[in-house]
Amino acid sequence: MMFAVAIDGPAAAGKGTLSKRVAAHFGFAHLDTGLIYRATGARVLGGENPVDAAKTLRAEDLARDDLRTTEVAQAASKCAAIAEVRAALVAFQKDFAARDGGAVLDGRDIGTVICPQADVKLFVTASDEIRAERRFLELSGKGQEVTREGVLKDLRIRDQRDRDREAAPLAAAADADLIDTSDMDIDEAVAVAISTVGKVFRRR
Ligand code: DC
Repeated sequence: MMFAVAIDGPAAAGKGTLSKRVAAHFGFAHLDTGLIYRATGARVLGGENPVDAAKTLRAEDLARDDLRTTEVAQAASKCAAIAEVRAALVAFQKDFAARDGGAVLDGRDIGTVICPQADVKLFVTASDEIRAERRFLELSGKGQEVTREGVLKDLRIRDQRDRDREAAPLAAAADADLIDTSDMDIDEAVAVAISTVGKVFRRR
């Protein structure tokens, strides 16, 4: 059985947690596609050419423990604007979406480019300030030296770059369900997402 759920949205909108919990609820596999771009970005920070890094990405690159920093996030966003980098990473993501047993993919272009035929498409947002506050708490909780202002600035720069690029920009698919999590806690957002996916899944 193939069943694909596409979850897109700007940085720190809660896509990661939402995707993991939706996948666990339905027994689907989950792919955080941002991690692929972060792994590419981390190798570029290490001195490699972005296209070469994307073409030779390995499973162990995704397991690095230094991918969740603002520096790597910015490098990822810069690499992600290069069409050749994206092209090198498309096949893996498409194959993942088509796997037997169901798949949840989260990112920026899943519903528009990677999986336009997804069974369910969600676009998850929250206000800039709320996303920045959540990301600030996450990063400072891990002991990273960050400020609220710095995290907010970082998110805005990244979102603008991700939205304005020519190659597969961050955008909601025309048929995506929007979930604004500004006034929701994570459990409420997960309940909305599971209910939306469940309505389609039960008909299959
Ligand atoms: O989801 P994230 O914050 O870990 O993603 C890091 C960067 O990777 C993001 O700023 C843009 C890029 N990205 C992308 O262009 N397309 C995706 N499907 C996922 C991430």
